[in-house]
Amino acid sequence: MRSTIILGFSSVATAAVIDRRDPVPAGYVAPPYYPAPYGGWVSDWSESFQKASVLVSSMTLAEKTNITAGSGIFMGRCVGNTGSALRVGIPQLCLQDGPLGVRNSDHNTAFPAAITVGSTWDKSLIRRRGVAIGEEFRGKGVNIHLGPSVGALGRKPRGGRNWEGFGSDPVLQAFGGALSIEGIQSVGVIATIKHFIANEQEQYRMYSLVKPGISSNLDDRTMHELYLWPFAEGVRAGVGSVMIAYNAVNGSACAQNSYLMNGLLKDELGFQGFVMTDWLAQISGVPSALAGLDMSMPGDINQVPLVFGTSPWMYEYTRAILNGSVPVDRLDDSATRILAAYYQMGQDSPDYPRPNFDTNTQDAEGPLYPGALFSPSGIVNEFVDVQDDHAEVAREVARDAITLLKNNDGILPLPRNSALKIFGTDAEKNPDGINSCADQGCNKGTLGMGWGSGSARYPYMDSPIDGFKSRSASYQFFNTDSFPSNSNPSPTDTAVVFVTADSGENYITVENNPGDRTSSNLNLWHDGDKLIKDVAAQYSSVIVVVHTVGPILMEEWHDLPSVKAVLFAHLPGQEAGKSLMEVLYGDVSPSGHLPYTLPKSEGDYPESVGLTGYQIGQPQDTFTEGLYIDYRHFHKANIVPRYAFGHGLSYTTFSFSSASISAVTPLTSTPPARPAKGETPAYSTTIPPASEAYWPDNFNRIWRYIYSFLDKNDADNAAKVGNLTSTYPYPVGYSNVQKAGPKAGGGQGGNPALFDVAYAISVTVTNTGSRPGKAVAQLYVQFPTSNFDTPILQLRDFEKTSELAPGATETLSLRVTRKDLSVWDVVSQDWIIPSLGGDYGIWLGQSSDGLTLRCGTETGSCAGNQTSPASV
Ligand SMILES: *[C@@H]1O[C@H](CO)[C@@H](O)[C@H](O)[C@H]1NC(C)=O
Ligand SMILES: *[C@@H]1O[C@H](CO)[C@@H](O)[C@H](O)[C@H]1NC(C)=O
Ligand SMILES: *[C@@H]1O[C@H](CO)[C@@H](O)[C@H](O)[C@H]1NC(C)=O
Ligand SMILES: *[C@@H]1O[C@H](CO)[C@@H](O)[C@H](O)[C@H]1NC(C)=O
Ligand SMILES: *[C@@H]1O[C@H](CO)[C@@H](O)[C@H](O)[C@H]1NC(C)=O
Repeated sequence: MRSTIILGFSSVATAAVIDRRDPVPAGYVAPPYYPAPYGGWVSDWSESFQKASVLVSSMTLAEKTNITAGSGIFMGRCVGNTGSALRVGIPQLCLQDGPLGVRNSDHNTAFPAAITVGSTWDKSLIRRRGVAIGEEFRGKGVNIHLGPSVGALGRKPRGGRNWEGFGSDPVLQAFGGALSIEGIQSVGVIATIKHFIANEQEQYRMYSLVKPGISSNLDDRTMHELYLWPFAEGVRAGVGSVMIAYNAVNGSACAQNSYLMNGLLKDELGFQGFVMTDWLAQISGVPSALAGLDMSMPGDINQVPLVFGTSPWMYEYTRAILNGSVPVDRLDDSATRILAAYYQMGQDSPDYPRPNFDTNTQDAEGPLYPGALFSPSGIVNEFVDVQDDHAEVAREVARDAITLLKNNDGILPLPRNSALKIFGTDAEKNPDGINSCADQGCNKGTLGMGWGSGSARYPYMDSPIDGFKSRSASYQFFNTDSFPSNSNPSPTDTAVVFVTADSGENYITVENNPGDRTSSNLNLWHDGDKLIKDVAAQYSSVIVVVHTVGPILMEEWHDLPSVKAVLFAHLPGQEAGKSLMEVLYGDVSPSGHLPYTLPKSEGDYPESVGLTGYQIGQPQDTFTEGLYIDYRHFHKANIVPRYAFGHGLSYTTFSFSSASISAVTPLTSTPPARPAKGETPAYSTTIPPASEAYWPDNFNRIWRYIYSFLDKNDADNAAKVGNLTSTYPYPVGYSNVQKAGPKAGGGQGGNPALFDVAYAISVTVTNTGSRPGKAVAQLYVQFPTSNFDTPILQLRDFEKTSELAPGATETLSLRVTRKDLSVWDVVSQDWIIPSLGGDYGIWLGQSSDGLTLRCGTETGSCAGNQTSPASV
């Protein structure tokens, strides 16, 4: 979502071209699901719906349509600004990027990216970062935070925005997303879980006049067991908003896909908040409303001339209500959902701040409506410092994410007096300025985050070199990515090489990578492989530090005898220096673990997870690998990766003992029946009078601003149409009768019984080494044999210890729920236990390839020294 998006639309062709699309592969269908379920039936939300529906019943038509859309791109201080309903006390709501901090602002923290957060495997830290992020958005006057991202899920190793999510596993994403939501919303900010759904690559993502967006074609079981899973947990955490993805699913654009929004999200998952578009993802007016969309962002129509203030909603939505195309209760439900989220977070409180920053400029004063030709000017940036002590949680995340992959001869931790030769431009700040590239759209200097709308400006960058300086380390730094001839290797030197791999959002191309890593492949950038090899040829002790968005290939240098240690510092945000020093010098032991698998070659992955290239018409991306992404695939194909999902070394060692398993809720082959929906507000279906849409007298319009009013004539004409008995040609399968909801639903996240704890597992972790450290216990489930083909092992829970002194122990409690032991049965459309009474293996260990402790549900006991079913 960006200014530069507009440029992307400059090539106009005839609208007819859009009809040319490659067919969606046989069998993939986007079924109709109508009508949009009303919100309000979940008891946690009743009070907010009560308040909201009272207010909505007093609002005019133009007020209601005004709050369901943005006032236009660049038409206010935030990246999205809804219309207001000031008469009834509702201000414009401010929507702002992004998942790792307030974008395009000042005096904010640039937190570590979510991929770094996922690498900590630390639930309380994830939540604490969420609280800090929430506080910063609130402090800047943001109502709706555009994060967290759990989709892209990380299916494609080259996908541009995987780093905005928590790792290539639905359960890791689910904990990352849900705990972030809890934290963010605990301080009153509405979180937005995104991008719904199957948004796995950047290229060809958007619809334009000339080309439909890419279609992710996937089957129902894969949808439920992988891509929908983290959204279900986000909804269960009470998320206020969901952002719809640009792409299509099964050929139907997510922004008007009734099966996705009405069916999966609002009925099955019981989502009570509102659904917004990604920026300019809306491609229709009436159909998107019927399909369950509640908010259009930033409000403009997705086609040239974008700049003239045309919208598929706002005044058109007003018209569509008057002429009877969209039933009044659909609009009322949308407006009520938006206001319910506002009340749910307590944003009606008089001390909720109004926006005090401007995403469009860093200047104190500027145009209030930069998108208008003539705009009044005023104070737009008040430079409110929202950082508080958040640098501490940011640094803790950055530090506890650092993943030690290899440490031969115990080269780490470094002795205090090591003589260091440091190589690589990544070790020091971008010499052009830490924020010199808009939205971090370059890879220069220390790589703290990827690029695009998920970036933030750095208040400062604590670079690795800053870190070495503050340690008074004895070092020489060669600020170059090619091996210098003047480094004078000495046998007592330790060389530290800094290398990177970057990616980002599609509207910026960096070094020939249009978001996705199309050109760099999975290789290090800036010839990092060569730099490491050259250094390794001259120095006998080499430490490689990698700042990366995701998987890279390391085969060219990994096994060189002088490459002693490899650390992934992921994307640390502003806190790259001290966090790394604390690990390098052993103040703490590293405790990060990989949130994805590291392959030996790109051929290790299934072909279907490669990037989808150019196709005439609609690009078709068919998820033929099904459930088998990342480690699930490596296990199935019996491929030994370079490093397994979950791998991460420490300076100390841990043992797991005294494991126990106890049955909590007895399982049945199908879950107990869902509870019925609770009461929802009742809405009138009577079309309001046209006068509710008229422009007020003497209204001072801003050119290009998007309003919800209609000229009297237009409103009256629409009302005449609405008065006819003939009805609008509703989509196939349309109905206006509210449904009881599917059996897999019943509460936020689905049938509440799915989240019953089936087994509680506990394990005692002992620090058996000689240094303090934190251990991560990872729990994987092995399904018993049944008629369902199921991945050999699937992560279901994890816990991290506090820092354990040598010899100290901590007992960790983990659990598996009914859902964790179920498969999605496409026939019965429910989660079922595939083999009741079958022996589930509950495997515990410190990585997906380090599982030796098995608890069995049949025996109810646990045993050590077992051989994992996935030997790799
Ligand atoms: C896509 O098509 C598949 C195959 O028919 C079906 O199982 C699945 O439910 C469809 N998904 C959506 C979101 O329409
Ligand atoms: C819609 O919002 C805009 C921007 O706040 C405001 O100027 C306009 O009066 C609002 N319309 C209604 C019907 O309140
Ligand atoms: C009603 O208005 C909407 C919005 O402009 C339009 O898409 C729709 O076709 C109209 N319906 C009728 C029956 O005129
Ligand atoms: C709608 O129809 C009713 C009854 O026929 C009539 O009284 C009313 O004036 C009509 N309204 C409009 C806006 O045409
Ligand atoms: C595994 O085997 C070793 C050596 O036989 C033994 O000392 C250890 O206690 C066993 N571990 C568990 C958890 O059973």
